[in-house]
Amino acid sequence: MSSASTFATTLQARLTAIRYAANGIHLYEFSPVEGDALPRFTAGAHIDLHLPNGLVRQYSLCNPQHETHRYVVGIKRDPSSRGGSSYVHEQLRVGTVLRVGGPRNHFALHEEARHTVLVAGGIGVTPIACMAQRLRELGASFEVHYSVRRREDAAFLDVLAGANLHLHVDAERGNAPLPVARIVTGADHDAHLYCCGPGPMLDAFEAAAAGRPAGHVHLERFAAAAPVVADGGFTVQLARAGRSIYIAKGCTILDALRDQGVSVQASCEQGICGSCETRVLSGRPDHRDSLLSDEEKQANQVMMVCCSGSKDPLLVLDL
Ligand code: FES
Repeated sequence: MSSASTFATTLQARLTAIRYAANGIHLYEFSPVEGDALPRFTAGAHIDLHLPNGLVRQYSLCNPQHETHRYVVGIKRDPSSRGGSSYVHEQLRVGTVLRVGGPRNHFALHEEARHTVLVAGGIGVTPIACMAQRLRELGASFEVHYSVRRREDAAFLDVLAGANLHLHVDAERGNAPLPVARIVTGADHDAHLYCCGPGPMLDAFEAAAAGRPAGHVHLERFAAAAPVVADGGFTVQLARAGRSIYIAKGCTILDALRDQGVSVQASCEQGICGSCETRVLSGRPDHRDSLLSDEEKQANQVMMVCCSGSKDPLLVLDL
């Protein structure tokens, strides 16, 4: 639930280890600079890494959730990286102290589920690996479907290994993709289903899961599913600041707030990280993020101001 994550903290953490996980994927381990414990997290959570080059990037935690002495993230070097993963792989050295935001969880595990189906593609396996460890710890019933291009691309096999792991290596199956629709339609109706991976996999998952009970289908995107709303033509009232700001056409709410010197936390600016989540006091946002569930969107209690607009002429925010 998003509201639990609204007031995430930031702290200093030291990069204490870098380990090889798979082809192009390294594990980065962060330890507290002060004290010996980091804020607790739950499976599916991510942290923001504030990189020394000024970028802020979100990475899912992959170590067991009971650990408080470290955060571990798995980062794949993206060939088309805009300075996030390439910087991490090429420049970050053990000993570096970084600002870390979070943890936030918009992909939380329902631990009480009778059965859980975890579907991962590529580096989307990081939150799934964390969930699998948690479910194993609980003795819960689950299965993992993990798709990679080649066998050497598969990470976390040490923690995923077991009878419930179904590893799909595209290259060993004539480059056929993971049959996501078949997995989803074959799952029991009351199972909870999770998917994290590339856009086409998530689209196939979402389409196949359309008739399933609300709240049983969970996915996490790395890229925005819907375009950012910059239609403008409405006013945002900042309840705590006692100010009103008109959002002009071509501007997002976040743009307008920044123009007016209002500071709001933001990172991805495409509705996938949750750092700009803001409480809505009245009015109906035009939600365009990939984080809130349909129920949360209908409740209109919070919104992502980086990408969402307004259906009403006036939106009152808790700012
Ligand atoms: S800045 Fe990431 S959701 Fe708005």
